[in-house]
Amino acid sequence: MKNSASPSPVPSLADEVVVISGGAVGIGREVALTLARLGAKVFVLDIDNESMKLLESEAESNQLTIRTTHCDVSRPQDVADAFIVAKTTLGPVSIVVASAAIALYRDFISMTDAELDRVMAVNLEGALVCAREGMKQMSEINRGNVIFISSVQATHSLQGCVAYAATKAGLIAAARTLSLEAGPLGIRVNSISPGTIDTPMLRRDLAAMNREQADEFFANVREANVLDRIGDPAEVANVVAFLVSESASYITGTDIRVDGGFTAVKKI
Ligand SMILES: NC(=O)c1ccc[n+]([C@@H]2O[C@H](COP(=O)([O-])OP(=O)(O)OC[C@H]3O[C@@H](n4cnc5c(N)ncnc54)[C@H](O)[C@@H]3O)[C@@H](O)[C@H]2O)c1
Repeated sequence: MKNSASPSPVPSLADEVVVISGGAVGIGREVALTLARLGAKVFVLDIDNESMKLLESEAESNQLTIRTTHCDVSRPQDVADAFIVAKTTLGPVSIVVASAAIALYRDFISMTDAELDRVMAVNLEGALVCAREGMKQMSEINRGNVIFISSVQATHSLQGCVAYAATKAGLIAAARTLSLEAGPLGIRVNSISPGTIDTPMLRRDLAAMNREQADEFFANVREANVLDRIGDPAEVANVVAFLVSESASYITGTDIRVDGGFTAVKKI
């Protein structure tokens, strides 16, 4: 049966207050700009003060509502405080996009306790704390959306990414499980698994490679990818915009891959 409330093809997010972790650069930044262009009021949590300043001034010159605050998502009290500031500044939070993450490529047996703790604390616990703090406010208005930015590495292995992959798989499991208790509160919870996307994170990985390794990397991406190219952050942000809109009103507890077909096929 068709949903009687036919949603408009271009979603308006004028009633939404969004908190995005890791929104200063890369995918998170593009999500911030995309949702703000659709009318949402956006609050970014990040540790990169300089990039947040640039984002705020870009938003201001385009009449978009984007505020930022310094917040390390591995510090739960700081996250809780930031969500209170978001509410007092912009109103009750109705959307959380947990995008902040770090990628440490190491042979697993050489990882220190501190490195392991950091990857877990930022990528997994940080995302969960953001979801929890956002859901406290969403439960008061009986609606909302949580989106975890996972990765194709949750399901497809890459050398040297044990801890990162474990956190990303954890986020998919968290979205699925959290959707159970979120549903009755009117909240949908999903994850997105991007493939290779052109962001500062990718550029940092490439900077550590010599020319030959970088060429090999691009050749591998093209070979492994149905669309023969690296993705653009906007191609992830557009999926976030869809998922938080009324057009996706029956989607919860699932993972959407945005990977140019990387995980769909095995090319030989
Ligand atoms: N770029 C890719 O190819 C790719 C692929 C799959 C998944 N992802 C995921 O997408 C998300 C965004 O990735 P990206 O490529 O834009 O990364 P990026 O490194 O370009 O940006 C990450 C942002 O998170 C912020 N951040 C890092 N640690 C933080 C902390 N402790 N507290 C608050 N903010 C913090 C950084 O300052 C930065 O602004 C991540 O979750 C990443 O794992 C990226």
